[in-house]
Amino acid sequence: MSDAVRLLHISDPHLFADPQGELRGVRTLESLQHVLEHAMAHRRGAEAVLCTGDIVNDQPDGYPHFARLLGGLGLPVYCIPGNHDDAAQLRAALPGAPFQVGGHVDIGRWRLILLDSCIPGATRGHVAATELQRLRETLAGSDRHVMVCLHHHPVGMASHWLDPLGLDNAEELLGLLDAHRQVRVIGFGHVHQCFETRRQGVRMIGTPSTCVQFLPLAERFAVDRRPPAYRRWTLHADGTVDTEVVWVDGAAGQSVSRSAAGAAAASGAAATQGA
Ligand SMILES: [Fe+2]
Repeated sequence: MSDAVRLLHISDPHLFADPQGELRGVRTLESLQHVLEHAMAHRRGAEAVLCTGDIVNDQPDGYPHFARLLGGLGLPVYCIPGNHDDAAQLRAALPGAPFQVGGHVDIGRWRLILLDSCIPGATRGHVAATELQRLRETLAGSDRHVMVCLHHHPVGMASHWLDPLGLDNAEELLGLLDAHRQVRVIGFGHVHQCFETRRQGVRMIGTPSTCVQFLPLAERFAVDRRPPAYRRWTLHADGTVDTEVVWVDGAAGQSVSRSAAGAAAASGAAATQGA
């Protein structure tokens, strides 16, 4: 029996109160449902689910959909808010097991730290001083391998429109993490695309959305035609990590062609609403 920790990771489901609600031509609830069905059918021993924010698209009445779908999986669900979430309403909607919003959790040889990077009313992110202090204490209190999870990207994506919407105090966060050698990986959402880089031996990994994707390396906002997705993680006891993105082709919930959605989204207004 392997002592690795296996996780399913979803991000940015952007649910609406209306079950038929659409984000850029995709019915987000239907798309999430389809992704979860695929993920659970190919679960491969996953023992928990991670969701890195934007659970709803500015509509707190979407939280009950998330609670119903994820609450029925029979797995713990670890969540952090995104810029389209209301953190207080998110916590109220997911008040207890199987859900955990924020904090940290120890599984096997690993500690997962769930970091809030949201500024109320803003698209960009910032890890507040109180949250940095909690992170410092949580890192100091354990010698387990650490995965830090947050919504906003703490590293440039080589994307002119998206980079200013990342973490505005990334240097402060990364400086703190640099002082703790047990940090192995940083996982984030927000970017609606697959991304990986490495910094000082730490893997920094972005996960696509369960609905609409954004075009990588883009000067201006544009929707990518790639399908909904989720990520699998295997966190090994020796601190190494295996991970892969699973693109769920033929996902339900697409009411218009991806090219039409992309054309409609390529405007300045869309860019300010992105991520
Ligand atoms: Fe998002």
